[in-house]
Order: sequence, then C-alpha cells, then structure tokens
Amino acid sequence: MKRLSICLVGGSGFIGQALCAALIRDGHAVRVVTRGMRLPPNLAVLPGIEVVRGNPYRAALLRMAFAKQDVVIHLVGILNEAGRDGSGFERAHVTLTREVVSACRAAHVPRLLHMSALHANEQGPSHYLRTKALAERVVREESGEVAWTIFQPSVVFGRGDSFINRFASLLQWLPVLPLARAEARFAPVGIDDVVAAFLRALQDPKTIHETYQLCGPEVFTLRQLVHYVGQLLGLRRWVVGLPDWAGRLQAALLDFVPGKPLSSDNFKSLTVDSVCTENGFARLNLVPAALREVVPTYLGAAQRAARLARWRQTR
Ligand SMILES: NC(=O)c1ccc[n+]([C@@H]2O[C@H](COP(=O)([O-])OP(=O)(O)OC[C@H]3O[C@@H](n4cnc5c(N)ncnc54)[C@H](OP(=O)(O)O)[C@@H]3O)[C@@H](O)[C@H]2O)c1
Repeated sequence: MKRLSICLVGGSGFIGQALCAALIRDGHAVRVVTRGMRLPPNLAVLPGIEVVRGNPYRAALLRMAFAKQDVVIHLVGILNEAGRDGSGFERAHVTLTREVVSACRAAHVPRLLHMSALHANEQGPSHYLRTKALAERVVREESGEVAWTIFQPSVVFGRGDSFINRFASLLQWLPVLPLARAEARFAPVGIDDVVAAFLRALQDPKTIHETYQLCGPEVFTLRQLVHYVGQLLGLRRWVVGLPDWAGRLQAALLDFVPGKPLSSDNFKSLTVDSVCTENGFARLNLVPAALREVVPTYLGAAQRAARLARWRQTR
C-alpha cells in the first residue's frame, strides 16, 4: 500500500483517535490540527504523529497544515453550541468546512474525506442536522478538483464513546432515569467499522464523489439501549419514557446545565430515527460488527468479574 501523508482536522476526538491509530499502524504519515495545547494521551503515544496547533478557522494555518498532504480528513463536529441560535453550529460545521475545502484547493490536496451525520438534511428539525447538510453541500459544490467522499454514520459506539458511556454513568447515579424520546430508533455503528470505511475510501477510487450511510446491523430503541447498558453493569434501574411535552421541557431545562447533557437541539435531532435507508457498508464491501459483540468488551467487565467472584464465594 502506498504511504500517504494525511492531515486530520478534528483528529483529537473519539473517532479521530481511533482513525489516527489505524492510519499509523498502516504506515501512513499522520498530522493532526488541534486547538488544544496538548494531544490526548492516546494520540500523544502514537509514533511519528505530527501536531499542528492553532486556530483552524485561520485560512493561513490550514493552508500551512495541508501543504504536501495527499489526503485531508475533516472530522470536526459539535453536538451542542454555547448559545441557542444556531450560530455555533453554523460556524463549526459550515464555516469551518468552507475553510477546509478552500485550504485543500489552495494547497492542491487531491483527496478529502468528510465526516457528516446520518440524515443530515437542510430541512431537518435541528440546527445540528441542518448545518451538517449545509456542510455537505459546501463539500459537493465547492471542492472543485478535490476528490471528496462523505460519510454519514448513525451513533458510534466503542471504547471512549460518549453515547453508551454517558448512559452508563447516568445509570450509576440515578435509580430512576426519565428518558426523552425513549422510542427513538438507532442503528449504532462500531468505531472500528467507521475507521474501516475511511481506510477503504483511501484505497478505492470508486468511493470518490460518493456518500455512504454507516449503520450497525441491529436497530434498537433508546429505551432498549439503556436497558442493555444497565444489564451489562448489573444495575436494576427504572427507565421512564417521557411524553414529548415532558421530554421537550427536560431538554429546555438541561439547555442551562453546563455540558448540556441533553439540549433542545438534541431533542429535535432525536425526532428523526437514526437508521439507514441504504447499506453503505455493503457498497464498501465491509460487514459491520454487532453492538452486543463489542460493548461487553469495554463496559461492565469489572462489574461482571466482581459478580462472578461473589457467586464463587457463596458456593
Ligand atoms: N460520535 C458519534 O456518535 C458520531 C455520530 C455521527 C457523526 N459523528 C461526527 O463525527 C465527527 C467526529 O465525532 P467525534 O465523536 O470524534 O467528536 P469529538 O470527540 O467531539 O471530536 C471532535 C473534534 O473536533 C474538534 N472541535 C470540537 N469543537 C470544535 C469547534 N467548535 N471548532 C473547531 N474544532 C472543534 C475537537 O478538536 P480539537 O479540540 O483538538 O481542536 C474535537 O477533538 C463529528 O463531525 C461528528 O458530528 C459522530
């Protein structure tokens, strides 16, 4: 396989860390643009990883970071903004994507892999879904000679995810979990499969100018996922599905809690089921893993070992 020089924007996050590790394992030269002072420990230990620190909204910084790169991977995305008027989403998704596309062209980068989200839609119910769609439009219409590919995953699980792990920590603390949009459906996709899709796109020119929905093989409601997490942790919890008026109120109140565990915009995104309408993995000749095979490898193992030890003592 040809050794490529690859620059990631947003490469320090959950998906970026796994992708960087796989790219380095495959022998590519990896550069990460970050606003942070230091890389997360998982990235810092990767041999040969190069860091460009600074503000990615500065065209000059991106142009410098993209110089002599074969590929740019754009992963930046936010689930919540500081304010509530959508301008934070607009900036992080649309403005930054425009900067990335324009810097790719200026630096003559031939290839761009762009991370979007499932059911990104300019008419979607949330700022998140609308601005993700507007960013896709920038990639499709403004990339010129840069060969792009877009990925649209459902929610992604894996060691260090913020979805399964968030419910795990809520269940540890709350005997009763009031759950908005409990019947919303998801087809969670494993981080290793998302990484495999990106790696495939690097090798296969048929992926150029294509968009891939990425879903796992099983569909769950949010309630089923929360129950499953509780089961893995050995916790009996009461999950109360909220009617939409109460879910909306819960989200409106949580808008003001630091970190926004659930925001009004999240609630609106949850009104669209996160399940695929086409099989992107099949088009990539990949078979995604089932959630039930993967999540027990990183969640609840300690609790299960303790239960087994207690059971052995009582025999
Ligand atoms: N995780 C999922 O379940 C999931 C599902 C569907 C789609 N996606 C999409 O996949 C991409 C990566 O997701 P992830 O879970 O890896 O996200 P993440 O862990 O939050 O990482 C995103 C990275 O983007 C950078 N970033 C965050 N806010 C930014 C801002 N306002 N301006 C510029 N850079 C910013 C950060 O890098 P620095 O701080 O180093 O600059 C951060 O490490 C996103 O586009 C997301 O929408 C994720």
